[in-house]
Amino acid sequence: MADRTFYLTTPIYYVNSRPHLGHAGATIMGDAMCRYRRLRGDRTYFLTGTDEHGDKIAQAAAKAGVTPQALVDEIAGAFRETWRRLGITNDDFIRTTEPRHRAVVQAFLQKLHDAGDIYFGEYGGWYCYGCERFYTEKEIVDGKCPDHQTALTFIKEKNYFFRMSKYQDWLIKHLEANPGFIQPERYRNEVLGFLREPLQDLSISRPKSRLQWGIPLPFDDQYVTYVWFDALINYISAIGYPDGALYKELWAAGHAEHLIGKDILKPHGVYWPTMLHAAGIPLYRRLNVHGYWTIGGGKMSKSIGNVVEAFQLTDKYGHDAFRYFLLREMTFGLDASFSEEAFVGRLNADLANDLGNLVSRATTMIVNFGGGRVPPPGSAGAEDTVVSTALAQAARSVDDAMEDFAFQRALAAIWEFLGVVNRYVDSSAPWTLAKDPAKRARLDAVLYTLAESLRAIGILIEPFLPDAAGKIRAAVGAGAPRLADLGWGGIVPGTSIQRVPALFPRIEAEKSLSPEARGQGEGKAAASPARIPIDEFRKVELRVAEVLAGERVPKSKKLLKLTVKVGEEVRTIVAGIAEHYEPEALVGRKIVVVANLEPAKLMGIESNGMVLAASHEGTLALLSLEKDLPPGSKVS
Ligand code: MSP
Repeated sequence: MADRTFYLTTPIYYVNSRPHLGHAGATIMGDAMCRYRRLRGDRTYFLTGTDEHGDKIAQAAAKAGVTPQALVDEIAGAFRETWRRLGITNDDFIRTTEPRHRAVVQAFLQKLHDAGDIYFGEYGGWYCYGCERFYTEKEIVDGKCPDHQTALTFIKEKNYFFRMSKYQDWLIKHLEANPGFIQPERYRNEVLGFLREPLQDLSISRPKSRLQWGIPLPFDDQYVTYVWFDALINYISAIGYPDGALYKELWAAGHAEHLIGKDILKPHGVYWPTMLHAAGIPLYRRLNVHGYWTIGGGKMSKSIGNVVEAFQLTDKYGHDAFRYFLLREMTFGLDASFSEEAFVGRLNADLANDLGNLVSRATTMIVNFGGGRVPPPGSAGAEDTVVSTALAQAARSVDDAMEDFAFQRALAAIWEFLGVVNRYVDSSAPWTLAKDPAKRARLDAVLYTLAESLRAIGILIEPFLPDAAGKIRAAVGAGAPRLADLGWGGIVPGTSIQRVPALFPRIEAEKSLSPEARGQGEGKAAASPARIPIDEFRKVELRVAEVLAGERVPKSKKLLKLTVKVGEEVRTIVAGIAEHYEPEALVGRKIVVVANLEPAKLMGIESNGMVLAASHEGTLALLSLEKDLPPGSKVS
């Protein structure tokens, strides 16, 4: 990440729906990224906003008996308020009905018109009123809109067109010369895929007789701009294109990045670069594309009730926890599935247990055994250096991950560090050292390491868990967080430390989870199984296995296909752990398997064995070894 100036935008959201989980997911990612860049000390500017024109808005307003402006004011207000409540740190909020936006859209259109890149022509095609767009023959499914599954209307009308086709070859070359222009790579490939077909010119207007609620074309007031020409320009209108200082600093100097969902890849990956190029404006630096949240496997926009309900979990379980879940559970670029059960599982395992317990234990021990003050560090032994080395490693991994918007990887790296510190507490056992006055110097060194780890955690988790980070920093007397302060040894001996008893209280699933989320596994656990003679148990052959490769089983939410090595033998095991483990994260791990099960076919794949894992209240943990032993070792 060489660039020290960073301008990030989210999509501007349509005001035909109130803010929901999907919008929140995108805005939270943007916010985490910008908080991270500020933490690095980078000049950071974060923009979000609302997309307020179009037929649908006008119709909804008419139905509600209010003016379109009154309707958009209300919903834009709801977005603004939601982001405030969630602690989103956007620097500006752009609305497409603002005069500053309208002026830039008109200037942009005029420029392209003057250059001969906008012409008047006739177009006939199949139109979906829901999407406000025409569909090509190829896109139509059974004569219907592929998105809404409703009938399309054939519309023939005169309109203004942008000569997009003229820029097809240029765009292909640009994508080829700049492999990182769209990431993850699958989306770059998808855009290159669109460009394998001849690019059509883009209809950019609608006659006023059909669409009133829009920005009039500067060269023909009988027409208004159509969705994308209006919306995309927000990214430069908000920062004062063409002469504003922000525009020059952030855009013209090449620091702009967009964050979008995969649903709007084509407008951002094809229309926008060609529009910019035609207008003689430099391109954005990078387009970052995230996947979709699904609920129960279905697309979220199709089940709006669920989405709203899911969003209410923010208030039920806290904004930090919600944010953490969204950032941790989604592999950037891929779809992820939201469930209250998985949410509570993560909250209990990662937040209450790994993080909350550590903070509570460490602060309590410094208060109880160190008189509430950071002791002198003493001389660090090998056990202590493991912690400082792990911190430096985590900081590097977080930086690498954030370069790719891979929030899940950044968090996994921080959690590895938490694991190291948790194990350090257990192995150094300050409670035992405290009993022996001769071990005072060692106890001090341990308490110092813990205090310093807490200070580091209070910095590292800031982008992801800002409230918890603030509480931790307050407890260890740390000031404004900066990545530059992560270097080991920053905490000053004598600093007063406060106890932090419960950063994330455990959620008791029985009490809290909604009935559907609770359902799984109930009843089975209650009855204790009959006792068996030892010979019965000996029939089960348990072995250590090393995971060589892992992948998701297509069309299955739960199953992973693992290639494991048991002794010299390599075999395939299908395991129901996909909701708890990323396949790549398992590679190289030693696990325990039942080696002598009869083969079974799962989703058409033959599984030879079974992976052992423990589960509790929605959290699943694979059995692993306390010491490293070769694959094939017998477990008894
Ligand atoms: N107004 C356009 C965007 C114009 S940008 C110049 C629009 N608005 S939208 O309200 O539909 O928001 C789309 C964006 O919201 C997606 O690209 C994505 O970032 C986010 N999401 C909406 N639903 C989502 C999910 N179910 N899952 C994840 N993100 C989703 O398109």
